[in-house]
Amino acid sequence: MNKKKKILALLGSTKQDSANLKILENFMQLTASIFEVEIYPLSELPYFNPDLDNDNSVPISVTTFRQHIEVSDGIIICTPEYVFSLPGILKNALEWTVSTMLLHEKPTALITASNSGDKAHESLELVMKTIGAEVGDKSSILIKNVRTVLNQQGEITNPNTLADLNGLIEAFKATLTNSQQG
Ligand SMILES: Cc1cc2nc3c(=O)[nH]c(=O)nc-3n(C[C@H](O)[C@H](O)[C@H](O)COP(=O)(O)O)c2cc1C
Repeated sequence: MNKKKKILALLGSTKQDSANLKILENFMQLTASIFEVEIYPLSELPYFNPDLDNDNSVPISVTTFRQHIEVSDGIIICTPEYVFSLPGILKNALEWTVSTMLLHEKPTALITASNSGDKAHESLELVMKTIGAEVGDKSSILIKNVRTVLNQQGEITNPNTLADLNGLIEAFKATLTNSQQG
């Protein structure tokens, strides 16, 4: 029997009633038989400071975060757009990974779910490309008008969004398989 893949989820929203959290929960439900998904508490990370980014000074919460990335098979990022960019909490977490090679060639899926979201999605793709993450074709989707694709229970009811999410899951699975073989 194949072991479930360990997927670390980075959520760009801290809101209790977060649409991105609901999208992530849909992802988790659709992949429950193949993925074990953990949503990392990004709010535990301090502000990135290059002066602390060395063997002697790196904060323990950052070391813990890095260990979680290291043992994961893949990463999923799900984020809103804030003022035409990535939310600070997500950008901050990504900054703590830059000096490590931990995200280099790490299978990664990207979801930006927002009112509009074009700029944040573009930025997220550029950041992850720069860091060297392995984002497969179709493993990156933008969900516009996110509130309108969900029902009261937080389920995705829009068929196009559901098709995009299923496409992302298939592409992400392929990237995970290829990375294991490579
Ligand atoms: C401070 C702030 C700035 C925002 N800026 C944008 C923006 O530039 N583009 C956009 O599409 N939505 C913007 N929004 C709307 C959010 O993307 C929208 O509320 C989204 O549902 C938030 O995701 P969440 O429910 O997962 O927190 C902004 C919201 C806030 C609170």
